[in-house]
Amino acid sequence: MTLPSDSATADGASGSPRPRYLAETPATGGAGPLDPFFPPTAQTLGAAAMSEEAAAFVAGVLKKLSPSEEQRAGEFFYAWAQAKYGKFWRYADGLTALWAAATLLQPSSYLEIGVCRGRSAAVLGAARPQCAIYGFDLWIENYAGSPNPGPGFVRKELTAAGHEGDVVLESGDSRVILPAYLDQHPGLFFDVITVDGDKSVEGVAADYANALPRLKLGGIVITDDLSLFPELRPIWDDVIERDDRYVSWEFIDAGFGVAAAIRVRQ
Ligand SMILES: C[S@@+](CC[C@H](N)C(=O)[O-])C[C@H]1O[C@@H](n2cnc3c(N)ncnc32)[C@H](O)[C@@H]1O
Repeated sequence: MTLPSDSATADGASGSPRPRYLAETPATGGAGPLDPFFPPTAQTLGAAAMSEEAAAFVAGVLKKLSPSEEQRAGEFFYAWAQAKYGKFWRYADGLTALWAAATLLQPSSYLEIGVCRGRSAAVLGAARPQCAIYGFDLWIENYAGSPNPGPGFVRKELTAAGHEGDVVLESGDSRVILPAYLDQHPGLFFDVITVDGDKSVEGVAADYANALPRLKLGGIVITDDLSLFPELRPIWDDVIERDDRYVSWEFIDAGFGVAAAIRVRQ
């Protein structure tokens, strides 16, 4: 049986909903002496996300996906930066952060809120083909100027990227469908979570509140677009930075800005 581990009310100081953590959260390791609980440090995660390997891997996955303007721009950006700055190039985004999380944790379950055309899920799926992928999206038409065809398209993209594991794709407002799905699956916890759906303050706060109690101890949460939507920064600070359950890293020098955190405490 799982019980709330703290007595915090459901609402934070800002009035937004807050995660209600569970007393018995499974961990990414710690089953015995040969499998110690040993999560990566935040700097390790950052180093991996900014590595040449991360950029090369992501560029390789993008080549396998159906062309879109955003994806072609991404491919060009990685190639141009590598050609101009070579081994000194340091850059991270949501995609390279996901490659880092997949490579360091070897996840078996991944939750993505905001799947769109499946680019980021494809990076995770290519890096860890057997990982089960759970995606939640409204599939808003022509999101950010690209067609957003929905689950059938995403499944094809995942297969093209080399993913072979289970895929669950749920359609609707994540504020409604995610808690409903999790209520139906009380034993489901995730090694990696990306929150990249609704970009409203209320929507992001609700997504953190619903998703984070299901992040395993030692698991990694990633959020994209921190520079693009500066109004979302206070929620990240409130829910992650000021909570000592987490150690965090971010890259905001260029691009849309990405932040990631590792849950290191119950
Ligand atoms: C930034 S895109 C996701 C990009 C994707 N993670 C990637 O890197 O390829 C945001 C997605 O969130 C979806 N979205 C927006 N508001 C939503 C909501 N309230 N519930 C579920 N999905 C939502 C949009 O339909 C869109 O597909």
